[in-house]
Amino acid sequence: MRELTIFELSSPGRTGVTFPEADVPQYELPDEDLLRTELPLPELAEVDVVRHYMHLSHFNYSVDEGFYPLGSCTMKYNPKINEDTCRLPGFLFTHPLQPIETVQGNLALMFEMQEWLKEISGFAAVTLQPAAGAHGEFTGVLMMRAYHKARGDHKRTKMLIPDTAHGTNPASAGMLGYQIVTIPSDARGNVDQEALKAACDDTVVGMMLTNPNTLGLFDEHLEEVVKLVRGCGGLMYGDGANLNALLGILRPGDLGFDVMHFNLHKTFAVPHGGGGPGSGPVGVSKRLAEFLPAPLIAVVEEADEENPPLYGYYTPKQTIGRMKAFHGHFGAIVRSYTYIAMHGPDGLKAISEYAVLNANYLKTRLEKYYTVPFNRICMHEFVMEGRFEGTDIRALDIAKRLMDYKFHPPTNYFPLIVREALMIEPTETENKDTLDAFSEALIKISEEARTDPEIIKSAPHDTPFGRMDEVKAARELVLCCWLPEGYSNE
Ligand SMILES: Cc1ncc(COP(=O)(O)O)c(C=O)c1O
Repeated sequence: MRELTIFELSSPGRTGVTFPEADVPQYELPDEDLLRTELPLPELAEVDVVRHYMHLSHFNYSVDEGFYPLGSCTMKYNPKINEDTCRLPGFLFTHPLQPIETVQGNLALMFEMQEWLKEISGFAAVTLQPAAGAHGEFTGVLMMRAYHKARGDHKRTKMLIPDTAHGTNPASAGMLGYQIVTIPSDARGNVDQEALKAACDDTVVGMMLTNPNTLGLFDEHLEEVVKLVRGCGGLMYGDGANLNALLGILRPGDLGFDVMHFNLHKTFAVPHGGGGPGSGPVGVSKRLAEFLPAPLIAVVEEADEENPPLYGYYTPKQTIGRMKAFHGHFGAIVRSYTYIAMHGPDGLKAISEYAVLNANYLKTRLEKYYTVPFNRICMHEFVMEGRFEGTDIRALDIAKRLMDYKFHPPTNYFPLIVREALMIEPTETENKDTLDAFSEALIKISEEARTDPEIIKSAPHDTPFGRMDEVKAARELVLCCWLPEGYSNE
């Protein structure tokens, strides 16, 4: 049955609003031609509105409700203290165009955040501007282009990207017109060395590498990869989406990467996945630092005996320009700052250790029931095949059946090199009971595949809506199921 919309629930005369007495002079309304008379608004009492939206919210699934093992998305629990700090009046009610003397607290926080991200990643400089990971990638690739151009090296047109990469990598490089050269993986899930050697020449802009990669594996030949790419004059781009595996253990900047984006909304706990804006700061090595977007946050007057330092803005000499209005998603930066401050260096290291431990625990429990290709000790996530020999059950069916067991499905059909991929990232925030319950659900599904495959094929059974026709939904998108007379979806 279809849910009634707020308009259908409306009843003339009901109201949920009382206006206070006006404390300003009243004015005549403008000319009638300028007023809309036909604007329909639903008429409901406050209680009707609250119940309607509360009811709809129960159809949702969130990390606050249950386990959310979406591989590569790092759907960790977001501590509520982050919400408190980003709503502190001094952060909430400032305007980015205020004189710097009046926003020293905000600037100090952003400056310190730049410094912390440098320390965590091993890079020489950091911009907080990009809005999300993909935007950070685009920013990084723009800097790579600016670097080659500044050296008069105009023949570089090829970006090397492993076949395990997230789609945003080729998309970011493709937006600059670069030719994408896909580098296959070897049998252990590393970058294939021979293929890489064959692709390396003086037309290479660089390589975009996710490490650990989207199979959840640390590249065993990383040093050689970096050497090969740098050896032909290319730059190393690090996709930092999987940084949750490395915190406090090793630093991409020390491994030879020239540029990397952080996904604050993954590694450092900011609600995402439909839950709020992300943030994709970018760290760079010394040779790219002068190409960073402007402005950066800097100390413009050093502290003296009487005064604290004065924070302000700095424009790098060869900047690629501005990538985002003002200073990026400030609220997301405050949340991540809180998260880092709360954990400290030892806490951050423990995060990665537990994230890796949890993933290996799940993999070890499940590998007897599901095929895990490229099966070696994983980092923060692993990928298994969502299929069973002799059945027509697919990853999508297993994902849907998991919903009956009250779990959010893992990422599926990615990375592309695993058949019927189910990519599982438990994160560090889950306890053993949750991991056990999740693996038991998957083990039960593997038994159902033998005893009652239909129950998997027709899942979900226990959700407000059953199996959707996803192709039809994508092709014939209807964003509003009912509109007042005279309005259309077109
Ligand atoms: C490996 C990888 N790279 C890049 C991205 C893009 O990040 P964002 O979603 O923040 O744009 C993602 C997102 O899922 C990812 O998993």
